[in-house]
Amino acid sequence: MAHEVRGVVARGKGQPVSLETVVVPDPGPGEALVAVQACGVCHTDLHYREGGINDDFPFLLGHEAAGVVEAVGEGVTDVAPGDFVILNWRAVCGSCRACLRGRPQYCFATHNATQKMTLADGTPLSPALGIGAFADKTLVAAGQCTKVDPSASPVAAGLLGCGIMAGLGAAINTGGVTRGDSVAVIGCGGVGDAAVAGAHLAGATTIIAVDVDDTKLEWARRFGATHTVNSRETDPVEAVRELTGGFGADVVIEAVGRPETYKQAFYARDLAGTVVLVGVPTPEMRLELPLLDVFGRGGALKSSWYGDCLPSRDFPMLVSLYRQGRLDLDAFVTETIALEDVEAAFEKMHRGEVLRSVVVL
Ligand SMILES: NC(=O)c1ccc[n+]([C@@H]2O[C@H](COP(=O)([O-])OP(=O)(O)OC[C@H]3O[C@@H](n4cnc5c(N)ncnc54)[C@H](O)[C@@H]3O)[C@@H](O)[C@H]2O)c1
Ligand SMILES: [Zn+2]
Ligand SMILES: [Zn+2]
Repeated sequence: MAHEVRGVVARGKGQPVSLETVVVPDPGPGEALVAVQACGVCHTDLHYREGGINDDFPFLLGHEAAGVVEAVGEGVTDVAPGDFVILNWRAVCGSCRACLRGRPQYCFATHNATQKMTLADGTPLSPALGIGAFADKTLVAAGQCTKVDPSASPVAAGLLGCGIMAGLGAAINTGGVTRGDSVAVIGCGGVGDAAVAGAHLAGATTIIAVDVDDTKLEWARRFGATHTVNSRETDPVEAVRELTGGFGADVVIEAVGRPETYKQAFYARDLAGTVVLVGVPTPEMRLELPLLDVFGRGGALKSSWYGDCLPSRDFPMLVSLYRQGRLDLDAFVTETIALEDVEAAFEKMHRGEVLRSVVVL
């Protein structure tokens, strides 16, 4: 039996999204059908709509979600109907070269549902990041469902499914931030503020938030920023150096995804410091740096996909910190909205008015 539900679809490059009837098949072997309860609007959804990820239109958008498993297919033993889960886009295969070398966070054969969700006329949909959760129900690989404490609110828990995990993990996992470190975060949207929160959790003593928007800087303080720099008014490289005794930060996290902010990150770190790129660039962007500076400044230039997270390890731990009041996931939620409001939420995101708009179903 297939299920007819509502879903938010991007039909073509730059076109406003529309609410459509989506046909969701019953789960086959290894798959799970999930009733979505909440799904955050991430900048990557907007990248999809703008054709910045690939051209596989139409997309079923939404990928930062929590919900309840409704049915599972043959052979599924890890989750069962009724389980409260966060959806992830890293269901590791366990058998690729990365997994076999004990680095499953780099798995290059992650699982998604095999069957296609479609439009009413049978056109197959490409679910964003293999999830597609701006919909009443979605079909995923069972491994994409991570069970967490059901007493957490779906609105908060769902945020860990993408951007907030990406930012937290960029600091904690990729950047390896530890007690006493100085950290600068360039770009304080949902992802950047999560990096601020991650640095705070890990015990960084100086946490410098950099953005071009004063409201964002004010919000960053709620997550643990000790200093703020408006880079429209002040040279951020100079400012970060000044705030770190002239050295630069141990770890600089770039959460915008632009060459000019990457360069700021590169020069704002201390000798042998670490740069973490978590912002997603577009295909035409180019970076030029004096190779001698790359050599001479030493350290590590890293990229962070999904915060190098392992959902089964990180989601339950972070939900636990949230339940204990040590990680304020609620503070990321600027507004809760309905499915029909996703296009308006993109505009608000574009204007910089929100950290996260979360669709509640
Ligand atoms: N690597 C990953 O796994 C991953 C996961 C999710 C999102 N992302 C990416 O992270 C980035 C941020 O996502 P988001 O949801 O926080 O977006 P957002 O739009 O909410 O935040 C971007 C922030 O950057 C600021 N900004 C823009 N230009 C700037 C500049 N020149 N200098 C300083 N700040 C500037 C904006 O004011 C805003 O606060 C996006 O590129 C998104 O695609 C990456
Ligand atoms: Zn693998
Ligand atoms: Zn995302």
